[in-house]
Amino acid sequence: MRARRPFVAGNWKMNTTLKSATELAAGLAKLLPQDIPGVEVAVCPPAPYLIPVAAAIAGSGVKLGAQNCHSSKDAGAFTGEVALNMLQDVGCEYVILGHSERRSLFGETDAVVNAKVLAALGKGIKVILCVGEQLSERQANQTNAVLETQMAGSLANVAGDQLGNLVLAYEPVWAIGTGLTASPEQAESAHVFLRQWVANRYNPQIAETLRILYGGSVKGDNAKLLLGQPNIDGALVGGASLKVDQFWPIVAAGIEVGNG
Ligand code: PGA
Repeated sequence: MRARRPFVAGNWKMNTTLKSATELAAGLAKLLPQDIPGVEVAVCPPAPYLIPVAAAIAGSGVKLGAQNCHSSKDAGAFTGEVALNMLQDVGCEYVILGHSERRSLFGETDAVVNAKVLAALGKGIKVILCVGEQLSERQANQTNAVLETQMAGSLANVAGDQLGNLVLAYEPVWAIGTGLTASPEQAESAHVFLRQWVANRYNPQIAETLRILYGGSVKGDNAKLLLGQPNIDGALVGGASLKVDQFWPIVAAGIEVGNG
């Protein structure tokens, strides 16, 4: 059994319908009728489908996550936003924060991400924190510098004992939705860098227990190789999380690695 339990999370982004979301969730719940030690699985549907998806996965091994939240501790006058209390109310265990689409399309800076991280952890909602470099940054050999800036900014004022409720996701922007996957070596090397950063900023024990997922065109046919790397502890899956028969092989790779 792997020391760090592999985690496979599906980020459905702005996809699915009420019908397809419910069917997808029910299909996964059927394949994972209960929580198992070898893997942790979560799905992150669009906000309007959180409630029906929660119903479809109730009692199964599939957990619920949201794709975003507002950083306010309380409900209030924030038109169009979703409060952490509401996510909690409908059964979200996780929230994805700092995704590159939020950063690039919705102007979320490290400071914005940090405020959300602190608010979510403060409420007891677990965070899947995404970091990753653009292609131009990788080509300019700035990958580690970019990761360092995103980590320091997104985790400002986050205490070490809060990291037990945080999962990191390394998602090279150039690999998201492009079909270009980081090679297992490229991904592993970024994961090693991130783990070392956490060891330096916090301590080696926290770094050893922190799970770091890889995200960016993970598919059934590359999952085993990626998840088999010693510092890759699971996957954050976009496109391939939208169909049971594409997502399940990734979960199966997690189980195989987790039990190995
Ligand atoms: P992808 O997306 O699997 O479609 O590349 C991953 C993500 O954005 O989390």
